[in-house]
Amino acid sequence: MITNPFRPGFGVSPFELGGRQVELSTFMYGLLGGVGSMQRALLVSGSRGVGKTVLLNEFERQAREQGWVVVRAYPDAEMISRLRDSTLPQAYYDLDQSEPPRKRTVTGIGISSLGSVTTQVEDHDPAPTLLGELRRLAEIAQVHGVGVLITLDELQAARIEDLAQLATAIQDLVRDNFDIAFATAGLTFGVEALLEHPGTTFMRRAQRLELGGLSDTDVAEALTKTAAASGREFEEGALLLAVDLVQGYPFLLQLVGSLAWARSVMAGDTSIKEAHVLAIAEDVKQLMGIQVHKIALKAVPDGEMEFLRTMARLEAEHGPEIPVARIAAEMGRKPNGISVWRRNLIERDLVTPSSYGHVRFAMPYMGEYLRSVEM
Ligand SMILES: Nc1ncnc2c1ncn2[C@@H]1O[C@H](COP(=O)(O)OP(=O)(O)O)[C@@H](O)[C@H]1O
Ligand SMILES: [Mg+2]
Repeated sequence: MITNPFRPGFGVSPFELGGRQVELSTFMYGLLGGVGSMQRALLVSGSRGVGKTVLLNEFERQAREQGWVVVRAYPDAEMISRLRDSTLPQAYYDLDQSEPPRKRTVTGIGISSLGSVTTQVEDHDPAPTLLGELRRLAEIAQVHGVGVLITLDELQAARIEDLAQLATAIQDLVRDNFDIAFATAGLTFGVEALLEHPGTTFMRRAQRLELGGLSDTDVAEALTKTAAASGREFEEGALLLAVDLVQGYPFLLQLVGSLAWARSVMAGDTSIKEAHVLAIAEDVKQLMGIQVHKIALKAVPDGEMEFLRTMARLEAEHGPEIPVARIAAEMGRKPNGISVWRRNLIERDLVTPSSYGHVRFAMPYMGEYLRSVEM
């Protein structure tokens, strides 16, 4: 059996990356631009399924290709202790086996279920610190002529004090001229609040990469190459229909490709035909609703939900560009009475401001989804 080459999931790198040339070269300029280069601190944001994690993975891959050491931080309660006690010591030990973790004995490597290094602190040594371990890694990397990239996905889930500690440590090393880069990704909402904290000044100055959709050309190319890799090609009309259905949204690229590919196999055909794409349209919208919209709307408070539902109703009459004044009127409020909701929804990456005084849904088919679950 041949396997489906499309990967409609989250955090799964696609077989063929569509677009993102600007983001990738921005990152490369940072790596190759030398210490102090602005692009050495990047903050990727955007809505669910737009490709933040995939882009971060791509940054890691590019950095490794340049010989850089890549260290991943995870935004949970152990973020700092895991970095300090296992990830960083493991990284410099990997780089140089003669550099055992500072003043500690490595009792085992990669043996715990988390894949971490088990270390044993000797009695009277000063306790290791995050900054100390990071500095140690940066020094050893410098001796080897390579830099260090630290990545953090789901930034919005990190504890503020932890993020401040990490950002401060990185900033300290940047100031000491070490080759160190920091790339993070997260939902815009929540990140803004984190950046208010005095300890995250460094992050506030990070270059922002607000991820949006892909161009139709990029979508067509990625669909074509991915399908071709499995020896099953899109017929011309089918490709046009598929691109139309995807609406530039990366998750949909994988979903549409995957379902169309499956339809073609089920029909016993050797290529992907128009009929296969037409047959999946409804399923695509439903799956997008369950896997993306439903989750993206989970924590949205009542007032903002009402704003979205009103938008959905108006979208059915007016098309995608919805006048804010109409939303306010429908909700029985003055325009400035809904401006906080509007701003929050934009920050949540659910709504996009378009032409003056208008908004639209940030994700394809969200209006349809809202109309289908309610009213
Ligand atoms: N540039 C891209 N080209 C093709 N597919 C992509 C691209 N970016 C993301 N995808 C696909 O979209 C889906 C969601 O990507 P992911 O990075 O998990 O999104 P996010 O982290 O923003 O929620 C995955 O199936 C992934 O393979
Ligand atoms: Mg992600």
